[in-house]
Amino acid sequence: MIGTAKAGLDISITGLGCKAPDRVVTNDELSQYVDTSNEWIMERTGIRERRIAAKEEALSDLALPAARDALAQAGLTGADIDLIIVATVTPDMAFPSTGAIVADALGAKDAAAYDLSAGCTGFMYALAQAYGMLAGGLAQRALVIGGDVLSKILDWSDRSTLVLFGDGAGAVVLQAVPHQGFLGFELGADGAGGKSLWLPGSGSRFFEDPERFVKMNGREVFKFATRILVQSAEDILAKCDLSIDDVDLYIPHQANVRIIEHATRKLGVPSEKVVVNVDRFGNTSSGSIPLALADALADGRLWPGQLVLMTGMGAGLTWGSALMRWTMEAAA
Ligand code: ACO
Repeated sequence: MIGTAKAGLDISITGLGCKAPDRVVTNDELSQYVDTSNEWIMERTGIRERRIAAKEEALSDLALPAARDALAQAGLTGADIDLIIVATVTPDMAFPSTGAIVADALGAKDAAAYDLSAGCTGFMYALAQAYGMLAGGLAQRALVIGGDVLSKILDWSDRSTLVLFGDGAGAVVLQAVPHQGFLGFELGADGAGGKSLWLPGSGSRFFEDPERFVKMNGREVFKFATRILVQSAEDILAKCDLSIDDVDLYIPHQANVRIIEHATRKLGVPSEKVVVNVDRFGNTSSGSIPLALADALADGRLWPGQLVLMTGMGAGLTWGSALMRWTMEAAA
């Protein structure tokens, strides 16, 4: 699915907030749990450390502070929001949705609120969906949250997955703006690749499966990721009549430095235009792109008028890109 923004209807991000758990877990600490080393993890993934949630910490504990910061930046309160989408594969529980839990805590009484599942691409899907609802007049001000607490569904004795992931969440407010915001989206899914990255014992199909942990074919995911990051970015740029040279900031899904470097090289993006923070957070799934946006904004690398390209990919297998003119000032 690929599409450009409705002419004359400018919708953009007007608030952004993030929250990662306090506990930092280094590669050396992980080597106490599984047979691995800092050298191996750094060389194959570029990840130095990640944040891991406390036992009692659930997704909404990260999503709420992120949402409050995003609302404050947009100058809004929960009562102003009429749509909340939480993109995640690790909600607090299957139901009520984390969207509904967050809406209640924020006092967003009249908001439609729900969760969306598209693996690590969830945030991109949720952005596109909120954009569509605003453009269609079904909502006025949306809160889009992407976040995961993957540490809870990892097998802490499986070195092939444990070293890759971390926990974190980000939130953005979407609303109409006077200047150009989102230009277009490109989203897709290939269910045939689903078993390359899956959690079989998590739903009604394998209800009695005692193994409720992520299973992954790393090489297959690696091949998919390197291909799709490039293809999706090229598709959305072509649809919007823009080239990679027009892009000021490229924010790919933060899965692995090798995957990011491969996509960057193939697309021809100079490294100074690429946001990378996977070294500090690992792969935070749906939290990855908002956490990277927040870092870029805090570092002074993101300012109004810049053309931003974001591409996510993940379980499903799914992928999604958005192209936008940034409209928000960094907080003073
Ligand atoms: N520490 C030490 N050795 C390890 C580890 C580890 N943590 N993990 C695997 N190994 C070993 C393997 O057992 C293997 O040993 P062998 O040769 O004796 O059999 C060796 O290292 C090489 O394993 P490969 O799987 O070939 O290593 P590769 O270079 O492919 O790197 C990796 C593995 C990092 C998982 C890579 O395939 C990758 O990044 N894949 C993409 C994973 C990903 O990003 N998933 C999530 C994306 S989608 C989403 O975000 C949800």
